[in-house]
Amino acid sequence: MNSRTFSWLSFLHVVFTIKFLILLQSLDASSSSAEFYKTCGNTFSCGDTISGIGYPFRRQTDPIYCGHPNLALTCDGRSNATTIDIMSMTYRVLRIDQSTQTMRIVREDLMEGPCPQEMVNTTLDYSLFDYAGSYANFTFLYGCPASNFPGLSLTPCGRSGYSGVYVFPGTQGPGKCNASVIVPVLLGVEGGGGAENATRTTLNQVVQQGFEVRWKIDGKSCSDCTESKGRCGYDVGTNQTSCFCPDAPYVADTCTMLRGMRLNAIQFLT
Ligand SMILES: *[C@@H]1O[C@H](CO)[C@@H](O)[C@H](O)[C@H]1NC(C)=O
Ligand SMILES: *[C@@H]1O[C@H](CO)[C@@H](O)[C@H](O)[C@H]1NC(C)=O
Ligand SMILES: *[C@@H]1O[C@H](CO)[C@@H](O)[C@H](O)[C@H]1NC(C)=O
Ligand SMILES: *[C@@H]1O[C@H](CO)[C@@H](O)[C@H](O)[C@H]1NC(C)=O
Ligand SMILES: *[C@@H]1O[C@H](CO)[C@@H](O)[C@H](O)[C@H]1NC(C)=O
Ligand SMILES: *[C@@H]1O[C@H](CO)[C@@H](O)[C@H](O)[C@H]1NC(C)=O
Repeated sequence: MNSRTFSWLSFLHVVFTIKFLILLQSLDASSSSAEFYKTCGNTFSCGDTISGIGYPFRRQTDPIYCGHPNLALTCDGRSNATTIDIMSMTYRVLRIDQSTQTMRIVREDLMEGPCPQEMVNTTLDYSLFDYAGSYANFTFLYGCPASNFPGLSLTPCGRSGYSGVYVFPGTQGPGKCNASVIVPVLLGVEGGGGAENATRTTLNQVVQQGFEVRWKIDGKSCSDCTESKGRCGYDVGTNQTSCFCPDAPYVADTCTMLRGMRLNAIQFLT
């Protein structure tokens, strides 16, 4: 055996080792992660106002890795309403704009009028959302003394038994009343005259216009992923956006690099 044959043999050995490693890696990853690409990444519609929505949102019924865990939309087939839960409070989703990363939401418990079943302030999950656009806080006061209160007096809340319901611009505590609930409203809403001019009759309309929030998720990881022909998903291990690819190892930062590596390996083997 001359040295040339020997180097050929070691070369073949190296080639087969690499081939074997690639095979192992793909077998290891393929068990479940091969399904990620197929399962996630499709845009969806929800209700009759939300359409063409994708990552970081997912439907409540989608696997958890298809979107951010706290951006799951519930699509009600009967009412056509889309809702999302934020800090244990259910909000109706009126609009989603993925290009500006904003959505318009309104408290579900205020859709019928200013008498929530539970007295809870509106509180965002600030790790995920910020207020967007110009808004103002309104304070609803319940069970206020029957004296001449300065706020706008509203119809008493039948169910909860609260009479003396008032609304004030701004944020305030209950004072002499039993409870106060803070509700953000959009300023300068088209048509309605905006929150500045709210009257008893337009107040519900103003509240039901909702308010805008921006989700604080870096959109670049996902756009890099889709540009590399991957589909975006969420890695619940690292709490970050990850990229699902059609080929092994199926989960990566982007799919381009992998494509390149695979191509090199194939060229090397042939
Ligand atoms: C929901 O949407 C469908 C199709 O657009 C419509 O036929 C149906 O009447 C809507 N239901 C409600 C409760 O609005
Ligand atoms: C509205 O109220 C929240 C607390 O409920 C507060 O964090 C926020 O700064 C207030 N916004 C304005 C514009 O007053
Ligand atoms: C509001 O507070 C007053 C005085 O403490 C009390 O008498 C009344 O029952 C309370 N109303 C409700 C609905 O809790
Ligand atoms: C809402 O916030 C105000 C001001 O921060 C507070 O005084 C009030 O008790 C809160 N209301 C509820 C129902 O927690
Ligand atoms: C509110 O009403 C005042 C007086 O009627 C008017 O000048 C102002 O333009 C109104 N504001 C909005 C936002 O419509
Ligand atoms: C991911 O988020 C969960 C829930 O918020 C947290 O418990 C966990 O420590 C986070 N993991 C990492 C790696 O940041």
